[in-house]
Amino acid sequence: MARPFIITITTLLLVMWMASSVKSAPMSSKPKVILVSMDGFRHDYLSKVNNTPNFDMMLREGVTMPWIRNTFTTLTFPCHFTMVTGLYEESHGIVANNMYDSKTDRNRFRMSTTDDDWWTGHETIWTSAQKAGLKAGVYFWVGSASKIQGTRPERWFPYDGRVPFEDRVDTLVKWMSEDDFDLGLIYFNEPDHTGHVSGPEGHATLKEVERMDGILGRLLQKLNDTNLLDTVNIIVTSDHGMAATDSDTKLIDLRDYVNETLVANVIQQGSMASLIPQEGKAQELVDALKDVEHMTVMLKEDISERYHYKDHRRILPVLLIADEGWTISENGTYRRLNIPRFLGDHGYDNILSSMRPIFVARGPAFKQNAVVESIDTVDIYPLICHLLNIDPAPNNGSLERAATLLRVPPKFKENLGRVKKNTSEPSKH
Ligand SMILES: *[C@@H]1O[C@H](CO)[C@@H](O)[C@H](O)[C@H]1NC(C)=O
Ligand SMILES: *[C@@H]1O[C@H](CO)[C@@H](O)[C@H](O)[C@H]1NC(C)=O
Ligand SMILES: *[C@@H]1O[C@H](CO)[C@@H](O)[C@H](O)[C@H]1NC(C)=O
Ligand SMILES: *[C@@H]1O[C@H](CO)[C@@H](O)[C@H](O)[C@H]1NC(C)=O
Ligand SMILES: *[C@@H]1O[C@H](CO)[C@@H](O)[C@H](O)[C@H]1NC(C)=O
Ligand SMILES: [Zn+2]
Repeated sequence: MARPFIITITTLLLVMWMASSVKSAPMSSKPKVILVSMDGFRHDYLSKVNNTPNFDMMLREGVTMPWIRNTFTTLTFPCHFTMVTGLYEESHGIVANNMYDSKTDRNRFRMSTTDDDWWTGHETIWTSAQKAGLKAGVYFWVGSASKIQGTRPERWFPYDGRVPFEDRVDTLVKWMSEDDFDLGLIYFNEPDHTGHVSGPEGHATLKEVERMDGILGRLLQKLNDTNLLDTVNIIVTSDHGMAATDSDTKLIDLRDYVNETLVANVIQQGSMASLIPQEGKAQELVDALKDVEHMTVMLKEDISERYHYKDHRRILPVLLIADEGWTISENGTYRRLNIPRFLGDHGYDNILSSMRPIFVARGPAFKQNAVVESIDTVDIYPLICHLLNIDPAPNNGSLERAATLLRVPPKFKENLGRVKKNTSEPSKH
């Protein structure tokens, strides 16, 4: 009499235990992370448009902040590399989109340069993940086409901006679902490009923001279709914002003030400029430029500490920073992304509101329907390491700061016996 009853109870308990462990398994044993960058997505773009149901859903079900504090210089390459290394630009060495380095094989770096020696020595999030035995796929990211510490992501592609955004999404979701990847990164070159053409308030730019909402919707829906939506932690952010400019009328022509007797080379120009002076002419060059309106000039050694933009050989002897909306040109005909007359640009001081990017996150680790204090883009790397439960390489970020996003705060003291340096700084803004 008693036996069938005991078996029934045992079976029932077993079923209940199995059900509960199945339910909690994705959160505890196999956390997944997707990091999305929509280039040039200014922090306040969503407030300028009406039709963004997918971002609205992310905000409702996830966590956001007024903006994320990005690094100087607010250019695409440096800012993207900061997100995946947790390092200030002076520490990861990708200090501009165009660079000069006497110690590399080829001295000049342009956005198409993938030579490994520009990227060595700085662990990225995909390297950290793969070192820990996890699988990482990167559908375009600054640095992903080069070997960093001897490895590339398990999946990667040479950059090709023409690949339809939908294809990028579909491939990423396949990696995460069919191939069970732990970490996925994906990059979209909009709304940046349209922002340069039409300016941050331009009709076309705001239309592009709505299109990017549709791309986000596709990602969310495909994750839902593959039963991953509630197990993946998704972070959607960007490298920088966008300021209104006019390259025809707000142009500083350096030829009006200096000539080749002072300047050996102009390596980067536009919203900021990096100059190599002729031998022994650095101070003279600074003196010639110090009264020029709508920009600031400084010797490398005088760059403000708040930029964390000084301590690297690729930061050149003379730095020029244009005032918001102004463009510096060595010869009066500077073009941005081959756009003859551009109405938007970035690269300016990272303290400007217009330079600040968006940040939204959703997933089992994140708070729901919450607006928290701003964190820094250097915090993204230690945050993702925490989400994946792996050890971060030395970095300038702070998990303590990023913890404000999390439902369950990390235990800083024990932390599974890991020794951690407290790298957080008192916040500045
Ligand atoms: C996910 O799919 C379920 C049905 O399987 C549906 O009820 C739900 O609304 C979907 N969620 C999203 C965000 O698409
Ligand atoms: C360029 O340098 C030459 C020689 O020193 C000088 O005569 C000329 O005035 C300079 N031009 C400008 C724009 O400073
Ligand atoms: C100005 O410099 C650019 C390269 O930065 C060059 O392509 C262009 O032809 C130059 N224009 C003039 C007027 O010298
Ligand atoms: C940033 O982190 C790197 C690597 O740990 C370190 O060398 C550098 O000193 C840090 N920078 C600051 C400003 O703390
Ligand atoms: C880390 O340093 C920051 C700033 O000095 C401080 O506010 C914070 O309490 C520290 N965190 C820990 C865990 O010691
Ligand atoms: Zn960018």
